[in-house]
Amino acid sequence: MAPRTSTFRLRWMITTVALTLLLLLIIRPCNGNFFKPFNVSYDHRAIIIDGQRRMLISAGLHYPRATPEMWPNLIAKSKEGGADVIETYVFWNGHEPAKGEYNFEGRYDIVKFVKQVGSAGLYLFLRIGPYACAEWNFGGFPVWLRDVPGIEFRTDNAPFKEEMERFVKMIVDLMQSESLFSWQGGPIILLQIENEYGNIESEYGSGGKAYMAWAAQMAFGLSAGVPWIMCQQTDAPEYIIDACNGYYCDAFSPNSDKKPKIWTENWDGWYTSWGGRVPHRPAEDLAFAVARFFQRGGSLSNYYMYYGGTNFGRTSGGPNQITSYDYDALIDEYGLLRQPKWGHLKDLHAAIKLCEPALVSVESPQYISLGPLQEVGAQTSIKTIGQDAAFSQEMIQRKVMAQSWTTVPEPIGVWGKTFTYQGILEHLNFTKDLSDYLWYTTRQFASDEDISFWEKSNTTPALTIDSMRDFMCTFINGQLAGCTKGDWEKVVQPLKFVQGYNDIVLLSQTVGLQNYGAFLEKDGAGFRGQVKLTGWRNGDIDITNSSWTYQVGLKGEFSEAYAGKDDKHFRWKEFPHDSTPNIFSWYKTYFDAPAGTDPVAIDLSGMGKGQVWVNGQHIGRYWSLTAPEDGCNTCDYRGAYDSDKCVTNCGQLTQSWYHIPRSWLQPSNNLLVIFEETDKAPLRISIEPRFTSTICSEVPQDHYPLNAWSGGQLSGPSAAPELYLQCDDGHTISSIEFASYGTPQGYCQKFSQGNCHAESSSSVISKACLGKNSCSIQVSDDIFGDPCRNVIKTLAVQAKCSPPVDNVFSYISSNSKTEM
Ligand SMILES: *[C@@H]1O[C@H](CO)[C@@H](O)[C@H](O)[C@H]1NC(C)=O
Ligand SMILES: *[C@@H]1O[C@H](CO)[C@@H](O)[C@H](O)[C@H]1NC(C)=O
Ligand SMILES: *[C@@H]1O[C@H](CO)[C@@H](O)[C@H](O)[C@H]1NC(C)=O
Repeated sequence: MAPRTSTFRLRWMITTVALTLLLLLIIRPCNGNFFKPFNVSYDHRAIIIDGQRRMLISAGLHYPRATPEMWPNLIAKSKEGGADVIETYVFWNGHEPAKGEYNFEGRYDIVKFVKQVGSAGLYLFLRIGPYACAEWNFGGFPVWLRDVPGIEFRTDNAPFKEEMERFVKMIVDLMQSESLFSWQGGPIILLQIENEYGNIESEYGSGGKAYMAWAAQMAFGLSAGVPWIMCQQTDAPEYIIDACNGYYCDAFSPNSDKKPKIWTENWDGWYTSWGGRVPHRPAEDLAFAVARFFQRGGSLSNYYMYYGGTNFGRTSGGPNQITSYDYDALIDEYGLLRQPKWGHLKDLHAAIKLCEPALVSVESPQYISLGPLQEVGAQTSIKTIGQDAAFSQEMIQRKVMAQSWTTVPEPIGVWGKTFTYQGILEHLNFTKDLSDYLWYTTRQFASDEDISFWEKSNTTPALTIDSMRDFMCTFINGQLAGCTKGDWEKVVQPLKFVQGYNDIVLLSQTVGLQNYGAFLEKDGAGFRGQVKLTGWRNGDIDITNSSWTYQVGLKGEFSEAYAGKDDKHFRWKEFPHDSTPNIFSWYKTYFDAPAGTDPVAIDLSGMGKGQVWVNGQHIGRYWSLTAPEDGCNTCDYRGAYDSDKCVTNCGQLTQSWYHIPRSWLQPSNNLLVIFEETDKAPLRISIEPRFTSTICSEVPQDHYPLNAWSGGQLSGPSAAPELYLQCDDGHTISSIEFASYGTPQGYCQKFSQGNCHAESSSSVISKACLGKNSCSIQVSDDIFGDPCRNVIKTLAVQAKCSPPVDNVFSYISSNSKTEM
């Protein structure tokens, strides 16, 4: 038997700690007290927890981007991946949807979330903001905040400061009353005030400086008892740690030699816009950036995001950010491990932890003997100790097709209580963001002479708007003339008038409110400037100050069509498969959930644009926009990364699949409601479980020993690397499709044997792995024998993961409609 490896020892230790914690939890009350109370402080070298300098791995996970039912699993997977800390923003607009009306329930139950982090034995880094950015609607600000008299956001403005202080204090008090700070035995070790304010501070002039100083003082004055951070804030005061956000922060130094080096946002991927390509950040580049950060004196690195999740409902930021917030994070939108990233970094974290005591004990990182050789060593050792896995997601025959539909058309223009005004009112001022939709209706007379002028000159008049955001549709006499996507650009929409009065309807839509930049309160949505009719016989007609009738939202939204309501004002009718669909229609059906416990997704690639609900829960907006054809070149991880470098989905829809959380489903009769704006009918929709079906791993033999990259500071036997395979929760390795210890060629799903191959490969792997959820095998001659002397060998494995047998069985029985 070969000696146990360090990785093995680490895993064993983690398991022991986890078991101990579990035991502790059983005998402890649920209220706080997850740890023995401890203090958090810092010096120039590190964050100090209970007297110990620490190098901390932090995992970004925003609680409302998952469901409370998903939180424990996501936290556990973060911990298994090597995280010490969970980081989240606080989402003000989720917690205070109307001024003075609070929501701390469901996905916004932040106290429950923090307690779950504590009971997992992890620390929590709470970024209160309350400005969050986060590609979240309005950057996390409640839209009602715009209506506070005299308010200007994020500057030296009394009404804003009053609201901000009230909310920040409320969150700190809430955490304290639940005993969630470290000194109370809770998990909270760090807090953040404001967010990336340094990026925009100069736009506010002297007000910006004064506000920054006030925010720091206000936060510090709350006596929360743990350190406060300001990220991207080089002028942060002495008692607040300034921190770095970016793809690389190894070169960053805080603004004082008394503060540690903290990386608040390590961008391990990037967000996606409708019609955009999908960014990916290679694991190799990310691992290199993290290793170098700690090598150069870093104390805390937070993955932004470790789990990105979903912008449910209308929470996505904007303009135009998609419903998925997958972010190419280490755990994917559905909660599945993203390989090779997750495994690669897990191994790096284990290596960093082995070096932690040695590294933090040195006063200043430049004294650590990290010569050029070791620096290279850090980069290559990642490959050595990493399990270079790849996987593909495949749908098997557990998909569920909806059968029969009912439908009801959405009225165009006016359906309920309206308001008439001589002029164009700003979109958000009117909707208060209670809906994406705002209808503007007016009338315009066209004479016989106008009509014959257009016929003779063979021209078509148009509606022209100086500036529009984010999306609008124009109707004339009940017919759709066209829709336009905008970003404060000019709109020219040709319109066909008839002789007499013509009804003109403009439908202005928001697709996520602006979440970044200065002066957010002035940003608004909808139209700006003049609205004109152009190309008329006597010149342009300015209709900006015409009489406009305003209607907020959809009739279906206000009659709760999304929850399946049916009354005499809103009557669902059969929708036969061969009928011609109406634009702007609601559709409704029922479906049985895919069996088992795998995450579930709905394919809406057959639809146009709209919103979707399941059992009354708002899944989000959908939009079938295609990414540009070009730009998806082969990804080379070498060199500096940027979000355009490694993109996918060129020529394909930006998003086709939308996450339906398991906990929102019941076994059968789930209500699915779709609001579709185009004339696409819901005939090509499927609902399917998501899981990883093929896993691969490739690990070279030990030619760069693990202890080489720590500068030789570790003693003990050099660890033989291990190859590690893991299927999704509950799934097992059902077959080994490829296994070769020797010189295998190719990559995942394209492996082949090389000249050197150990005959034992397949039987060794099968014996160790078949029927298990995960397995690990040492990559060494001791295990496989030596098929070729003096050659550096590699072990490559491709395996198939299968769902639990009873899942498939129960699906078959439910599908054949016998029972369920
Ligand atoms: C934390 O620090 C405070 C103030 O110095 C001290 O009173 C308290 O005993 C410390 N708590 C622990 C658990 O060390
Ligand atoms: C929105 O309404 C406020 C008053 O409630 C007004 O001051 C502001 O100018 C309006 N914004 C726009 C763009 O019309
Ligand atoms: C529309 O009305 C506003 C406010 O009364 C005025 O400032 C503006 O000049 C008017 N525009 C036109 C084209 O008449």
